[in-house]
Amino acid sequence: MTNIVVLGPPGSGKGTQAELISGRYGWPQVSTGNILRHAIEAKTRLGLEAKACMDRGELVPDGIVDAIVAERIAHADCAKGFILDGFPRDLEQAKALGGIAPIGFVFDIHVPDEVVVERLSQRRVCDCGETYHLKYNPPKRGGVCDKCGGKLYQREDDAEKTIRHRLEVYHKQTEPLIKYYGKKGVLVRIDGTRDIDAVLEEICSHLG
Ligand code: AP5
Ligand code: MG
Ligand code: ZN
Repeated sequence: MTNIVVLGPPGSGKGTQAELISGRYGWPQVSTGNILRHAIEAKTRLGLEAKACMDRGELVPDGIVDAIVAERIAHADCAKGFILDGFPRDLEQAKALGGIAPIGFVFDIHVPDEVVVERLSQRRVCDCGETYHLKYNPPKRGGVCDKCGGKLYQREDDAEKTIRHRLEVYHKQTEPLIKYYGKKGVLVRIDGTRDIDAVLEEICSHLG
């Protein structure tokens, strides 16, 4: 069983890498951000509760995300391992996770703030889950998803002012997890400024 956490600031490439690792090893990607965005789209009560926090670039309350993750990783497809993308995001969540599943690797994808702003302001996404970058990972046809032909758009929280606030939230609430997992001996620091394939190979070199 290989349970992985992909940690890092907004725009560090957590989603990009989690999807690629999932494709290579078969463990499902569990992205709290994607689950919450689907709930917003479906206009469920969960979605309504989460939307205001997400639009402001703040964390959704711990109780909500803890419950989402506990429910998701109990599914049969997670029995051989899973890849958490965007969870845990504060100490409370890390402790909640520790109580329900053992974690083998925490990949801390390190990227400076200025790189984050450049990456997120030029990110484009598709409802099918694919992510592009206008310069570093462009779609074959402008504005159209390679995988499903859907129309690409910008995430609402990718406005520059919101990106800056998400970074503040990251430094204050999430960054302490680096120390927390370092002490547990499962932290692997990854240089996230290299290109997508180089980052993937570095991560996979630890997974064997
Ligand atoms: P979430 O969806 O998790 O957003 P985030 O953490 O801000 O991270 P992003 O998804 O923006 O970036 P990423 O690291 O996945 O990078 P990506 O691969 O897309 O959360 C959104 C919101 O939901 C939160 O603000 C919060 O409100 C709520 N939420 C979610 N989880 C929560 C939790 N646990 N607790 C409470 N609230 C929670 O890459 C970015 C761009 O760069 C793309 O364009 C990509 O193509 C490009 N790129 C990727 N890698 C590289 C590379 N190596 N070189 C060049 N370009 C690259
Ligand atoms: Mg993401
Ligand atoms: Zn698509």
